[in-house]
Amino acid sequence: MKPPQLTLLRSTSLVAAVCLAGAPALAQPKTGESVYRSVCMACHDTGVAHAPKKGDAAAWKPLIEEGQHVLSAHAFVGVRAMPAKGGDEKLTLQEFSRAVAWMARESGGDWQDPDAAMMHRISLEAEKRLDADIRAKQKLKAELHRQDQRRQAR
Ligand code: HEC
Repeated sequence: MKPPQLTLLRSTSLVAAVCLAGAPALAQPKTGESVYRSVCMACHDTGVAHAPKKGDAAAWKPLIEEGQHVLSAHAFVGVRAMPAKGGDEKLTLQEFSRAVAWMARESGGDWQDPDAAMMHRISLEAEKRLDADIRAKQKLKAELHRQDQRRQAR
């Protein structure tokens, strides 16, 4: 007969195994296609406001030539009529970048889901872009301040 401790140990590790199997499934980032369908499709299927349409190889060619880290980062922080994160606050940079890669693949490119090294490059590029945005806003703020002081001095 098995000692009771062993049985207990076994059932505990079974519970642990079930929990471990469940946990990553919940934390798993969404696939590019599922993000596309739930968030990006609204604009990138129709091409509203000149959004590059999914499958339009001619529209995607110059974008793909910008490079995966550059395009993913710039789209994530928002560019012209393209809202930051495609308008979905909950999207992570990785999920967003997977959606970009998926759209690029559907439009003549060969981009893969970004690996750790590519994610790092995308993140650095996004930070660089945000720093430039912050500097532009600070410049605008300083200009407003100067104008206000001039009016007050009159
Ligand atoms: C509300 C509409 C809208 C949604 C939703 C949207 N986009 Fe866009 N997107 C645009 C528009 C409009 C442009 C074109 C911007 C321009 O060039 O003026 C664009 C451009 C882009 C570009 C090219 C950026 C560049 O540098 O020219 C990428 C990449 C992109 N979107 C990815 C996505 C992804 C991924 C999603 C979903 C997570 C998404 N978009 C959701 C409207 C949208």
